[in-house]
Amino acid sequence: MSSLPLLRWGFMLSLAAVALAFLLRPDLKHNINNHAHAILQHSFSSSSSEDQTYCYEGVRTSHAPGSEAVSSSVTCFNVHDGKFTSVFTPLETDSVIVSPGHAYPGFWDGHGHLLQYGEFLHSVNLFGSKSFDEVRSRVTDYVDTHPGAGGRDEWVRGVGWDQMALGEMPTADMLEAEPRLQGLYIMLDRVDVHCIWVSKAVLSLLPADLPDVPGGEIVRHPGMGVFCDNAMEMVTAVWPRPGAEKKKEYVRSAMKDLHSVGLVGMHDAGVTPRELSLYEEMATTEGDGWSLRVYAMIECAERNTFCPEAVQKVETDNGMLHVRSVKLFADGALGSWGSAMLEPYSDRPDTTGSLLVNASTLTALTNSWAAAGYQVNIHAIGDRANRLAIDAFESTLKNLCPSTPGNEQDLRACQLENYRFRIEHSQIIHPSDQVRMRDLGVIPSVQPTHATSDSAYAGLRLGVERLQKEAYRMQSIWDLGPVLGSDFPVEPANPFAGIYAAVTRRRPDTGVAGPPGSNGGWCVDEALEFSQALAGFTEAPARGAFLEGSAGRIQPGFWADWIVLESKLEDISVDEVRNVKVKETWVGGRKVFDRE
Ligand SMILES: *[C@@H]1O[C@H](CO)[C@@H](O)[C@H](O)[C@H]1NC(C)=O
Ligand SMILES: [Zn+2]
Repeated sequence: MSSLPLLRWGFMLSLAAVALAFLLRPDLKHNINNHAHAILQHSFSSSSSEDQTYCYEGVRTSHAPGSEAVSSSVTCFNVHDGKFTSVFTPLETDSVIVSPGHAYPGFWDGHGHLLQYGEFLHSVNLFGSKSFDEVRSRVTDYVDTHPGAGGRDEWVRGVGWDQMALGEMPTADMLEAEPRLQGLYIMLDRVDVHCIWVSKAVLSLLPADLPDVPGGEIVRHPGMGVFCDNAMEMVTAVWPRPGAEKKKEYVRSAMKDLHSVGLVGMHDAGVTPRELSLYEEMATTEGDGWSLRVYAMIECAERNTFCPEAVQKVETDNGMLHVRSVKLFADGALGSWGSAMLEPYSDRPDTTGSLLVNASTLTALTNSWAAAGYQVNIHAIGDRANRLAIDAFESTLKNLCPSTPGNEQDLRACQLENYRFRIEHSQIIHPSDQVRMRDLGVIPSVQPTHATSDSAYAGLRLGVERLQKEAYRMQSIWDLGPVLGSDFPVEPANPFAGIYAAVTRRRPDTGVAGPPGSNGGWCVDEALEFSQALAGFTEAPARGAFLEGSAGRIQPGFWADWIVLESKLEDISVDEVRNVKVKETWVGGRKVFDRE
């Protein structure tokens, strides 16, 4: 069984050699000239306005399906002004300096949260905590090492708890039980960031009599302390938000960390207008430490609204920040029964979850944003939410796509060319809606590690039939060009964790599947090929961000973003994929991470 993937890779390699010859040949003729010249410059000058030449033991220029371009011999590329200008194989008589390792296109995460990730790096890590004692001890350790944390103006923040692992829904009193935490202001995000758990001090800032909130839940049993979805806003309204300097620190920490796992770019799935101004300032200010390419989705100060006056489209000259999309939210998460389902949950027949917005508003918002020239990306997890998102896209395309006399509208062509509407998460989709997505060309944005993390309870929530026909599709929707990502900080940011989960449908942290008896992998029919998963973290996010002419390849005219690995990816066994360490990461021809 386990030799099968290796065989497949071997086959890819031989294909690759052929493909590479074709791929490189057109470049060869003008490069040979160029290249002697470039090497001279390389030895005498390091100014960024000059060509720089980089040679490696091997270079893979693209992960595009069908172009398995791997060179098994020394390959070089030239970089000028932050872009690749050529890729070439040096002649045997050339004396090039060959750096150790193999170069690959840099990774993009198709769905993450930059500021939250930075904040996460500066907060209590509660992922994997299995008891209230463990939570209290981690929070206490943090407080002991961060003087001032827990005061009225500097709440302790944390993320990663899960009532399933803790055995019970948390309450404010459970934090108060630790004497060193008494009286402190504490706000801890659930593992899916759809609920927060707060301390007594925080509760004391809220009115004593809290009314229920549409689209949200105030958990009242076994006691007060947890607020979900729309109900979180009453707490965040009294939270002393970090100021601009603190946020810049978060951004810098996040970017550094993301480079260390090979990321050169990300799609930031929800940035408020105020944060976008901060991003723009940092992305255009030399010395502010902005080193990762960000494709940011606008999230209005008030969720699910139309706020074109508060934002603008952005495309910085250096290609470091792009804004031309908006994020809307149709529902909550599966773990907390918050995703909106067509039929009741199998383990809670009393509920079908909840929509955060009704169908007419979702469609109206999609129309307004698209008419204003923005790509619309809708968060949808449950099959009802996914259906409403597709309805909104279809209605908008019918409204906005041109039709010529005598010709029917080609909604799919119009969507792929001009709008590229996406569904963020796309987790549970009714079979008939999978067909509609295909007909319309709707792009799924998928997080492979969500599938493996949720595998522990997805079957309970959904039942066998929905699990088999609707849930966590990857291979069966591959032709829709799914953008892959991690949803960091909800899941680890390392793309190799996502690639491993996509290829094996096993958890990257443990190497096994979640539910008992599925150790060979969970719903493996939906597993991706290795090459597909790599494309999902390079080519697909480029296309999902209208950046397919600039990002995701080592190719003349593209941004000079690449990673260096010690060994050839193609030689690594599937089981080892989750352990791959990136040696170097380069963005715009600048080294932003070096493991040494
Ligand atoms: C949908 O929600 C909006 C805003 O909350 C409300 O004004 C409208 O009446 C609702 N429409 C329907 C059909 O329920
Ligand atoms: Zn997200």
